[in-house]
Amino acid sequence: MIYNFNSGPSILPKEVMQQASEAVINFNNSGLSILEIGHRTEMFEAVLHEAISLVKELMQLDTDHEVLFLHGGASTQFMQVPMNLLNPDETAAYIDNGTWGLKAIKEAKLFGHVDVVSTTKDKNYTYIGKDFTIQPGTVYLHYTTNNTIEGTQWHTVPDAKGGYLFADMSSDILSRQMDFNHFDLIYAGAQKNIGAAGVNLLVINKNILGRVSRPLPSMLDYRQHIANGSMLNTPPVFAIYVAMLTLRWLKNNGGVSAIEKLNDQKAALFYNTLDSLPVFKGKVPIEDRSKMNAVFIIDDGQVEKEFLSVSKQENLYGVKGHRTVGGFRASFYNALPLSSVQVLCDVMKDFANKKG
Ligand SMILES: Cc1ncc(COP(=O)(O)O)c(C=O)c1O
Repeated sequence: MIYNFNSGPSILPKEVMQQASEAVINFNNSGLSILEIGHRTEMFEAVLHEAISLVKELMQLDTDHEVLFLHGGASTQFMQVPMNLLNPDETAAYIDNGTWGLKAIKEAKLFGHVDVVSTTKDKNYTYIGKDFTIQPGTVYLHYTTNNTIEGTQWHTVPDAKGGYLFADMSSDILSRQMDFNHFDLIYAGAQKNIGAAGVNLLVINKNILGRVSRPLPSMLDYRQHIANGSMLNTPPVFAIYVAMLTLRWLKNNGGVSAIEKLNDQKAALFYNTLDSLPVFKGKVPIEDRSKMNAVFIIDDGQVEKEFLSVSKQENLYGVKGHRTVGGFRASFYNALPLSSVQVLCDVMKDFANKKG
């Protein structure tokens, strides 16, 4: 038995992997593989339409919000968002609360003015910077809902003060209930909560488009993707299929409200254990802790190495912290069962007991 705490690509539901592997050999009893059918066939169009409807249903989106499946990962959105929505003489507000948000800032500066309204760099991004001011006339506010590397998460929704609200939800998309219609733009790489690597989910309020004066290359123009129903060119067929299966799994398991309860249980179990064991230390204030990525340390480098080797022996995968942060990180994405968190906690308790 392996316990998969990888941060992304990461654990997927067993039944999704079973169905995806069957479809590679014989897709829906067609005698053909999902890998060898055209994207404009009825067979694939049905997959894409189901994936889009599932996103609309699970997020309870209104008719102003369009759903796209795009290439290029979340990182492409760092530039595609300002390219489509920010004129060179305009200002966008960005929250700098982690490595990924900082990358988005760097790209946005290529297209317009960026006002970094909140930064938590002073403490290596170990907390969420909730106090900030937005200047009148700011086009949009961009933030990262969950900081995958640093293990912090927004538990409130920041106020864009009349501007549009944009969010990178790559590492907590569909993990908890939110008023998704309140956002004008949401993007997320699929490879954590909604599928395999290779596709990017974009939810956008179509009414905000068409506001920039620069010419847009077709492949980077959201309006062209909308007009072509995510089929402007060959879409990432297999990644969309896996996303559809994962979304179906989520719906069949009670949808976002049910998964939120499970995610709350996993986080409570883990953090209660962490707080009860003095050898381990959390880096993030309780109110900003991520329910998706728990980051923790052991003060003594030698003991830290020992725990890493114990985790390996116990088949706990992916608990080493990001190379820029060190320590440990355990990711509790939607598909991770509570029992895996229990095993991690038992191993930590046992280790702590031995260390006295
Ligand atoms: C919050 C966040 N944003 C963006 C990215 C980058 O995603 P991609 O590798 O799909 O470009 C990641 C990757 O882990 C992430 O966690």
